Amino acid sequence: MATYYTETVLTVRHWTDTLFDFTATRNPGFRFISGQFTMIGLSINGRPLLRAYSMCNANHEENLAFFSIKVPDGPLTSVLQRLAPGDALLVGAKPVGTLIQDNLLPGKILYLLGTGTGLAPFASIIKDPDTYERYDRVVLVHGCREVAELGYGELVVNSVLADEFLGELAREKLLYYPTVTREAFRNTGRITALLETGKLQADLGLPALNQEMDRVMLCGSPGMLEDLNVFLRAGGFEEGNHHAPGHFVIEKAFVEK
Ligand code: A2P
Repeated sequence: MATYYTETVLTVRHWTDTLFDFTATRNPGFRFISGQFTMIGLSINGRPLLRAYSMCNANHEENLAFFSIKVPDGPLTSVLQRLAPGDALLVGAKPVGTLIQDNLLPGKILYLLGTGTGLAPFASIIKDPDTYERYDRVVLVHGCREVAELGYGELVVNSVLADEFLGELAREKLLYYPTVTREAFRNTGRITALLETGKLQADLGLPALNQEMDRVMLCGSPGMLEDLNVFLRAGGFEEGNHHAPGHFVIEKAFVEK
């Protein structure tokens, strides 16, 4: 079996100096669970250079979608950011990851907490009808430094809300809370502070966070993950994994170079 597929880039969209998203063809044999990631990359000087990327598309969608940072001297992203439609993209054939529903105990409210490109796995999860079957409410919180960095997330949320099949369910259950930390916006502050003060729940009209009802998925920088890990554990939340489901699960927002 192939260790990776060679796909073709279909679209590329640049959001800021540091963020872009792209889509590519998908081999019909490539299956994954919403929230998982795989290794993707390019053949550079005849050698594959791959990094972990979460799929932003839902499992039922025809094409693959990814959300990436750009690092000027990053070995992969410095080249990847110059991608154009028609280019070849290597896609690892073995998706993996902990941000999957089976790693969580049943609950009522699902919190998807992401910073920066940590939005990516949640883009897939909010497009999956299974998510809405499992929960009464799905709360997507995306924290960024600046408003322009929220663009891709906004677009994905709007497409889900307007979707012919999923729209009705999503309009009933999905709550979207974008927040920025370095300029003025309707919501400001770090996700950690919004949870610690209860402002997030107050703004959304939700009950205080509790491990009986709430399930949490985290994806972001190491500092964000560490702080939220400490906060959730202090509130009695236990981390789930492939062996034992829990109240919350964690994945690092991978691509740093
Ligand atoms: P801040 O601007 O206060 O650093 P980055 O681009 O550095 O990954 O940051 C993305 C977003 O995550 C920013 O809004 C940033 O806020 C926020 N952030 C950084 N560190 C943490 C943390 N430890 N807990 C919560 N949010 C964080």
